Amino acid sequence: MLRVEDIHTYYGDSYVLRGVSLEVPQGSVIALLGRNGVGKTTLVRSIIGFTQPRESKGIFFKDVDITQKPTYDIVEMGMGIVPQGRRVFPSLSVEENLTLGASKGAEGGKWNLERIYELFPVLAKRSNHRGNKLSGGEQQMLAVARALMTNPQLLLMDEPTEGLAPLLVRAVGDIISHLKEEGLSILLVEQNLSFALKMADHVHVMSKGQIVHSSSPQELTEREDIKSRYLGV
Ligand SMILES: Nc1ncnc2c1ncn2[C@@H]1O[C@H](COP(=O)(O)OP(=O)(O)O)[C@@H](O)[C@H]1O
Ligand SMILES: [Mg+2]
Repeated sequence: MLRVEDIHTYYGDSYVLRGVSLEVPQGSVIALLGRNGVGKTTLVRSIIGFTQPRESKGIFFKDVDITQKPTYDIVEMGMGIVPQGRRVFPSLSVEENLTLGASKGAEGGKWNLERIYELFPVLAKRSNHRGNKLSGGEQQMLAVARALMTNPQLLLMDEPTEGLAPLLVRAVGDIISHLKEEGLSILLVEQNLSFALKMADHVHVMSKGQIVHSSSPQELTEREDIKSRYLGV
């Protein structure tokens, strides 16, 4: 579904991603872990075209090189994003947030308001509330729901559990499991190790703009050296 090959991304003179490669196979959840500031969000930004890599061997989405494409083309092709910090529109209602970027997607699209409200009853109840009146957990649900309204085949989720209480972390986990069962491919950026280990088929650990460990979740669970060195566990 997604293949990132040796990307190098800068902010001005600041060299952030130093040769990152990874794949998200169709229907899988791939987790990217790492401490604050190592470049996780920069990778998400590079993939979806907010910050284009200065050098790369290509970013292939459904076998098309999207490296030079603008974000709206990439979204149109079927990539969705749940940005870090949620970024819902504070002065728009829940329903307006959902319909604003809605699209039928690359494959006709099964997500519409009705199905979204089925999966997120809390949003149905609050459909007329403004974004800034929602709790953190509700805003996170809205951010996920809004991304689904573009009918993506690949979803980039940047720290979806950040700042959420345990019960809500579980709710986000249930949503991810459900989406995976429906065949969605997901790149899950996380700082919550146990959550990522539970959700992912494969995990990568990033440090200083490079991937320093890749394995099954089971293997990472046992790698105390990697966890203490790169994840502060
Ligand atoms: N817009 C920006 N301009 C300049 N530097 C940035 C910008 N965004 C992030 N950085 C820097 O790039 C590095 C990686 O940041 P980021 O990708 O946000 O890391 P993470 O998501 O892993 O916490 C950090 O050193 C950060 O300060
Ligand atoms: Mg980040």
